[in-house]
Amino acid sequence: MKNMFTNADYRKRFNDLLSRVNRGGVDNLVDYLEKNGFFVAPCSSQYHGAREGGLLEHSVNVTELALKLREVIACDVPEESVIIAGLFHDCGKAGYYGKQNYTENRLKGGKLSESKPYATNGDRLPMPHQTVSAILLTKFMPLTEQEVYAILYHNGLYTPDGRVIQGKETPLLLLIHFADMWASRFTEVEYTPVTDGGLF
Ligand SMILES: [Fe+2]
Ligand SMILES: [Fe+2]
Repeated sequence: MKNMFTNADYRKRFNDLLSRVNRGGVDNLVDYLEKNGFFVAPCSSQYHGAREGGLLEHSVNVTELALKLREVIACDVPEESVIIAGLFHDCGKAGYYGKQNYTENRLKGGKLSESKPYATNGDRLPMPHQTVSAILLTKFMPLTEQEVYAILYHNGLYTPDGRVIQGKETPLLLLIHFADMWASRFTEVEYTPVTDGGLF
């Protein structure tokens, strides 16, 4: 199924969500993200959101779903924390230290690979994107302990470092983790068929 929404539609939804955040530094953060390709970056090399603007789409999808879940099951979690963690949990997939996370994967003839349109930038040191997200955010705005935790472990138990959350799950972490899984496995898969695992 083709995605009917344009990058401009997602940008409007992003702006609507962000207008509900009153945290100092957020404007400078968005300026930085704009200059470093967040709004046009793909979300993965070959899985969900592997296309221009995929990262923005994913960030909006995760946040909107996490907010819906919050209303039903976790209304004590601050709305602002859900929006900040949701919109920016993957911002480490955009540019950092002047290097994009994903670069175009062009075949010998110059055509973009259809099966794997992007490759992870080999010039970038291999820091996990969730760690980069947390570092980037704290350059611009203070984060609560809960927000840092939710961003660092949004992959839940799907990555080896996530083992530490077992028994120490928090509502914000679980909201973001579930919304992230749902968006990447279902919402976004409607637009980009997934063929196997490893979808972060
Ligand atoms: Fe992620
Ligand atoms: Fe994500």
